Amino acid sequence: MKNEKHPNHFLTDMKCPVSLEEVDLFSPGAQEHWYDAYPILHESAPVYKLEGEGILPGTDGYVLTKHEDINTVVRDPERFPPLMMEAIKEMADTGVDVEKVPNLNAMSASMVTLRPDMELWRLHKQELTDPWVGPGAKRHTEMITRHVDELIDNWIDKEEIEFISEFARPLPQRVMASVLGFPQEDIPRLAEWGEAQVKSFVYGRGHLNKLNEDEIREQFVLLDGFKEYVQEQVEDKRNNPKDDMITFLTQVTYSPLGRKLTDLEVNGVVYAMIIGGLETTQYAIEEQAQLICEHPGLFGQLKSGGSKLIRQFTEEGMRMRSPTQGLSTRRTSQEEIFQGVKIPAGSVLHLRWAAANTDPDEFECPFELRLDRKAVTRHLTFSAGPRVCPGAGISRIEQQVAWERLTERLDEIEYAPGNKFLHQPGIMLGTLELKLLFKAVATA
Ligand code: HEM
Repeated sequence: MKNEKHPNHFLTDMKCPVSLEEVDLFSPGAQEHWYDAYPILHESAPVYKLEGEGILPGTDGYVLTKHEDINTVVRDPERFPPLMMEAIKEMADTGVDVEKVPNLNAMSASMVTLRPDMELWRLHKQELTDPWVGPGAKRHTEMITRHVDELIDNWIDKEEIEFISEFARPLPQRVMASVLGFPQEDIPRLAEWGEAQVKSFVYGRGHLNKLNEDEIREQFVLLDGFKEYVQEQVEDKRNNPKDDMITFLTQVTYSPLGRKLTDLEVNGVVYAMIIGGLETTQYAIEEQAQLICEHPGLFGQLKSGGSKLIRQFTEEGMRMRSPTQGLSTRRTSQEEIFQGVKIPAGSVLHLRWAAANTDPDEFECPFELRLDRKAVTRHLTFSAGPRVCPGAGISRIEQQVAWERLTERLDEIEYAPGNKFLHQPGIMLGTLELKLLFKAVATA
């Protein structure tokens, strides 16, 4: 069965590809056709060369689309080193003072001191982020439920909503502010800084998401004040400890270094949480709402099916509509052969998670939503292996609680008239708006 995502091909100048020559994953408008391109790539070019688009002059990029290939790559960081790791390791080995390196943002600086190699990467995740956004995120279920219910309360008396601005976007914003310990009233400012941080993933060009110099300058201006803001929060938490992630980061002794974190390091971990934690979950929930509207009867099924069925649905939703469609995050350290295609050492690999998740050799009838699909979590939406997304735990709980409460409090949702389904630019899958009609459960 072919992709059945909304036929919105008239929205941009880019035509829907029908042959390999017409496939273009990265130009403006490509977002409207990604799921039409993947079957063509699987059939005709499962390893797709991006001529001259490596990092160093004379090298190439390669888009990997097969589940087995991407799975192999992400599980072997020695053979397929992450792109930034070499530079980070080099800085760490030379003992550079990261506070003095110009234009090094807090996240990169904290990578140099806290996790310059894979073993430290693992410990960083295990000791610093897992207790808050990984497996330990279960502790936030009550807080997340409260935010979900408050958001629904804001519109339950209406009949129509713009689902993104009234639910899918504010939910992760509120949740991450609560986890980190930022005051909720600071969310508008945090949202602006969050948008500035992910600018390259939205406005960057090509598979390397490149911004030009003007855009980078603009990004710095937009981020103005963020470092100082986090700094103030860190100082405040050092003096008035609370039960939140920033307080924890100011107090914890990081075992491999045998010391507490510096302010810059705390800042770096927070920066990563804001980059990763906001829009990704927004897109997951928004696309899941679309899947429900496209499958009459599904909402009712979820209503009566309980938590387990909702879990299956959110996983299947992330498989079919992966928020992060692909990232160029690895390179080859030696010559490799994938699907019979020779890839020289030093090439950049663009890992196309969304294509892996719709690979017919891995998922039978990949464009069908199947609530009984076996081992559905083998999708690669969060990647896999030692560098798997550290925020998968909290994102999963947000999605789960969102649909548990929405199905509890509503009887039905459907598309409202007037949706265009135009996607935002960049590498993330998300429509710019989503108008929904809904019926609240009648109360006595
Ligand atoms: C549906 C939601 C999400 C998706 C689809 C997603 C996807 C991904 C993917 C594909 C990677 C790259 C892994 C690799 O290179 O192998 C990644 C990394 C990352 N994600 Fe997520 N993510 C999501 C939610 C979150 C959340 C909620 C947070 C934070 C609370 C987060 C924080 C991060 C960070 C910090 C990294 C970089 C890895 C590191 O620095 O250790 N993500 N994510």
